[in-house]
Amino acid sequence: MTITQTRQLAAFSPHALDGRVAVITGGGTGMGAAIAEAYAGLGARVVALSRNPDHVEEVAGRIGAAGGVALPVVCDVRDRERVGAAVEEVVAHFGRLDVLVNSAAGNFRCAASDLSPNAWRTVVDIDLNGTFFCSQAAAEPMKAAGGGVILNIIGDFVDTHGDRMAHAAAAKAGIWNLTRSLAKEWGPDGIRVNALAPGPFETDGGSQGLGRREAFAEIGAALPLGRTGRMEEIAAAAVFLASDAATFITGATLMVDGGHSWSGYHLP
Ligand code: COA
Repeated sequence: MTITQTRQLAAFSPHALDGRVAVITGGGTGMGAAIAEAYAGLGARVVALSRNPDHVEEVAGRIGAAGGVALPVVCDVRDRERVGAAVEEVVAHFGRLDVLVNSAAGNFRCAASDLSPNAWRTVVDIDLNGTFFCSQAAAEPMKAAGGGVILNIIGDFVDTHGDRMAHAAAAKAGIWNLTRSLAKEWGPDGIRVNALAPGPFETDGGSQGLGRREAFAEIGAALPLGRTGRMEEIAAAAVFLASDAATFITGATLMVDGGHSWSGYHLP
């Protein structure tokens, strides 16, 4: 079963994203890959962008095999020059850029006192700086075309705290605020900027970052909905915010967390 065939994605018209060109950073793995596949299944032409060529080629191959259109692009979001060139490549290839999903992220659990300067810088660079660089570059063709959508994947802890993740929490909280600053500045250009705040979802990156896959079962059992999230559930929210169903929504943060953020449960 492809992600588009899940009941969450089947709730949308198969033409929900027809005509759109969407770039998904971090599109080679985890949530980014799920969003890329969901968008492609609903009519968008997608660009899976990541620094790992194997990952983006694999995702683009899967999308192509399912009848969709995908372009793999290798790019490190920390490199503003390369990001600019990647956006130019997308516009040269597809003629437009309608949606940017900033999903590239890096994280690991480490006590704040033990973070090396480079460890701090690396996560802030990927998450916060990468999101800004990609948004700034993508806004150019969006403005020229009269509008677009930017979607930032943050985390449902942005207004609480990051447990042994001060680096990622600070970076994601920065993106949370950036979402509104850019929504205000670029609203008159027809660009909507929103954030998606996932709670516990079991991804390879997340498990690697958290150091223990078993933690997810324990977390899930303690949530109001009794389980962790499924990829199609974050993808469905990403489809909604990119689609014409959300044309009056900007500067918003949509929690997709099974109640994690308000139910008082924290990581073990
Ligand atoms: N604890 C403490 N410091 C860590 C660490 C950990 N678990 N993992 C990495 N670091 C430090 C490194 O030691 C290094 O600092 P140093 O030069 O002072 O030693 C710095 O962070 C950069 O690490 P490096 O591996 O060189 O950077 P990278 O750019 O190749 O990768 C990540 C960084 C964060 C992306 C990598 O840890 C990773 O692949 N994580 C899993 C994927 C992921 O995080 N996905 C997102 C889930 S939300």
